[in-house]
Amino acid sequence: MSKVTVVGAGNVGATCANVLAFNEVADQVVMLDVKEGVSEGKALDMMQTAQLLGFDSNIVGCTSDYAQTADSDVVVITSGIPRKPGMTREELIGVNAGIVKSVVDNILKFSPNAILVIVSNPMDTMTYLTLKATGLPKNRIIGMGGALDSSRFKCYLSKALNANANEVDGIVIGGHGDTTMIPLTRFANYKGRPVADLLDKDALAKVVADTMVGGATLTALLGTSAWYAPGAAAAYVVESIVHDQKKIVPCCVSLEGEYEQNDICIGVPVVLGKNGVEEIIDYKLNDEEKALFAKSADAVRKTNDVLKELNVL
Ligand code: 2OP
Repeated sequence: MSKVTVVGAGNVGATCANVLAFNEVADQVVMLDVKEGVSEGKALDMMQTAQLLGFDSNIVGCTSDYAQTADSDVVVITSGIPRKPGMTREELIGVNAGIVKSVVDNILKFSPNAILVIVSNPMDTMTYLTLKATGLPKNRIIGMGGALDSSRFKCYLSKALNANANEVDGIVIGGHGDTTMIPLTRFANYKGRPVADLLDKDALAKVVADTMVGGATLTALLGTSAWYAPGAAAAYVVESIVHDQKKIVPCCVSLEGEYEQNDICIGVPVVLGKNGVEEIIDYKLNDEEKALFAKSADAVRKTNDVLKELNVL
């Protein structure tokens, strides 16, 4: 029996749990939240769609009762506050670092072998914090940002190309920040045809710019952080792990020399299977892309340094 826990039953966590159940990714989905009744209510609401949507997964909710999360195969951590319009993800670090650290401690008491998928922002730094604070093997700690940013990239590419988003391929690497992510236009293609042959320079530059502020655009529209794509992106990462799909997904992982980086968690393409991160794929970046990646890593490292200033690491 497969079991996935989602910590935080806010918009992102609940969407993730809903997608996990609807796609029958796990037999058992547990939602845990600190707010009394919220996860229980959302879980019951979702269970009342089981017949309508035709899924067999079981969803339960609980208020801070970590015992109910015991023996989870994968745990998705969405806890913390979301950003408001005008805020960067990095500004959330002071509040979210303490929350994420205590959630991870509690989770590991009951699921010592779980693979952890980090969604909380600033996602790269929360992934790094989890790696350093737990000392877990690096294959078991995965930040989901690249899956989300790549989906947004494909969305904007498909709009510019007037094409089906499922026929477009593209990946975003680097940090999960408005200025740190790197949509790799050189590798993006529409059914194997390079998008640079199909879109002019300005159109492609607009796709890149729109992708980079994909989250901020939604925060401005909604008054809070987005949830459908972030929740679905986390579920997509979980599915490749639980079903051992070996998909190549850009995710935030610990680098030890790969992409010329050390002591950092940042987005690169990885193979996701039952062991979590099974391989880091080397995309052979050109000099310009390498420079962008190094700059992105510097910015992520600066945010990581705040963890020490805050005494959480
Ligand atoms: C986003 O980009 C929540 O960071 C997430 O929408």
